[in-house]
Amino acid sequence: MITPLKIQKMKKEGIKIAALTSYDFSTAKYADEAGIDLILVGDSVGQVVLGYDSTTKVTLDDMKVFTRAVVNGAKNPLIVVDMPFMSYHTGVFEAVKNAGELIRLGAGAVKIEGGFDYIIDTIKQMTKSGIPVMGHLGFTPQYINVLGGHFVQGKNLKNTIEILEAAKKIQDAGAFSLVLEMVPDVCAKYISENLEIPVIGIGAGKYTDGQILVVDDVLGKFDGFSPKFVRKYADIKTTIKNAVSSYVKDVKEQTFPEINESFQLKEDEYEEFESYINKERAKILS
Ligand code: KIV
Repeated sequence: MITPLKIQKMKKEGIKIAALTSYDFSTAKYADEAGIDLILVGDSVGQVVLGYDSTTKVTLDDMKVFTRAVVNGAKNPLIVVDMPFMSYHTGVFEAVKNAGELIRLGAGAVKIEGGFDYIIDTIKQMTKSGIPVMGHLGFTPQYINVLGGHFVQGKNLKNTIEILEAAKKIQDAGAFSLVLEMVPDVCAKYISENLEIPVIGIGAGKYTDGQILVVDDVLGKFDGFSPKFVRKYADIKTTIKNAVSSYVKDVKEQTFPEINESFQLKEDEYEEFESYINKERAKILS
């Protein structure tokens, strides 16, 4: 079973960390069987599963349902769960309590976004309470209404140094790793090289200690929007549409189900059944 410590060891040994989001039992199981190191039950579930326009609509109760499903499906990878919007912003006590509920469900760690002072205090307290924390800097989707859109962060030296300073505070507070989202590759390289903890990039180029993508993007299932950093490894959307339209056609044309796709009575039971029906029919007609 992969622990936060093993994820840190991978950086030291120069082994790249392969991470992916997952939200359901079977995808988590297959990702585990395929060798994924880390599964994030991301609040991107809001967009790709629940159909919301932003992650800010996801609740702690939503995250609990998807956490249970992933924990049941994946046994080896480290399972990190996103703390949703407003589940860690209103006070350290509330944040630790909410994170504890996710850990109790089987999460191996939680992820929180941002580098503000209250986030640093929260990371310290969570770590002291036995809850491993992953930070998240660069583009932070839960701050979309303040950021004003999906903009690349760290686009100049000043901003890169600001991100690195925040990252160092997150590291010193006890976080075991950091997600770095949508920053230029040189910015990500500089930050990764100057941190002890592993940096897992999304839209951050090739120099980070690992990569993470949203599974629905990787599988070609979500067609809402596709950022340039996504690599699509399958076309599940087309597979689903073709399969469902074939099913609809077969039902309408009565070619489904076939005899071998239904249950039959044994010969003597069938005869008994037939004779009973015939007698009943005869009674009605007489
Ligand atoms: O919610 C999510 O999927 C994430 C990734 C984009 C890192 O936070």
